Amino acid sequence: MNANQVRRLVVLGTGGTIAGRAAQANDNVGYVAGQVAVSDLVAMVPALSACPVDVEQVAQINSKDMVLGVWQALAARVAAHLDRPEVAGIVITHGTDTIEETAYLLQTLLRPSKPVVLTCAMRPSTALVPDGPQNLSDAVAVALHPGAQGVVVVCAGRIHGAMDVAKVHPYATDPFDSGDAGVLGCVEEAQLRMFRSWPQSAPEGTHDAAALQRLLSAAALPRVELIFSHANADGEVVRALLGHHAAARLSGIVVAGTGNGTVHDDLLRALKQAQASGVEVVVASRCAFGRVVPHSAQPLPDSAGLSPVKARLALALRLLEA
Ligand code: SIN
Repeated sequence: MNANQVRRLVVLGTGGTIAGRAAQANDNVGYVAGQVAVSDLVAMVPALSACPVDVEQVAQINSKDMVLGVWQALAARVAAHLDRPEVAGIVITHGTDTIEETAYLLQTLLRPSKPVVLTCAMRPSTALVPDGPQNLSDAVAVALHPGAQGVVVVCAGRIHGAMDVAKVHPYATDPFDSGDAGVLGCVEEAQLRMFRSWPQSAPEGTHDAAALQRLLSAAALPRVELIFSHANADGEVVRALLGHHAAARLSGIVVAGTGNGTVHDDLLRALKQAQASGVEVVVASRCAFGRVVPHSAQPLPDSAGLSPVKARLALALRLLEA
């Protein structure tokens, strides 16, 4: 970008509670997500009148209903805007429920050298004290911060890296945690205080364009099911999945194992049977912190530190390559 070019921001809306509306101002749970246009959310944030902004409504959904088509539309728009030299950063408004999966997807595919900042809210726009406007304002500060890069989630004044962030609380206005890694930094009165370095980016223009193209042209993601091991578990669900293997085109299973990725005996037998029939099996830990610590006797490949939901997406993306 030359010195005369204006640094623009892009704000992409996908829905979520940040765009939610309830019938009563004191109702923080009985609202409908994805109702308010992203242009109206942008109009509420003074920080966004200080720089040129392009605003696009990519989707208007509750993020629990995320589907491949929305991910494809979002990834395509993010990639296109990242290629514009005048764009300094991108902010995405998104529901909190699957924001960690979208963040993981975008970081894995794009590894952007500019900031791509997902933000959200836990209270609808109609709440007595909506948290969305402050979160959006903080996201703008991150997206305009010199040197910021990679995909991050900004909520409640904290900046989380895409690979580590997980939603850990269903109601609190600070519902995310970055586990052992910790947050990247925080935003205080539009100033950033950083504790860790930004997510790794690919040198300008060297992200895996083929991987992005595979996602964009896929009619469906390979079917990867996520199941839990628990007390009194057995292998019935896996055997039922295998029974429908051909019809359901089952390609992979991620099992959220107990503790260090251990799996109930009967479930493990069924998972081995799945492997033998060509289904890829990966084990993650159902623990909120830490990762499966690999060891030579582990019966199943582990998720390399990814949470169960991110491991499911990672396996689907890997199988898409096959
Ligand atoms: C959603 O994920 O779209 C609804 C819940 C939220 O944003 O908190």
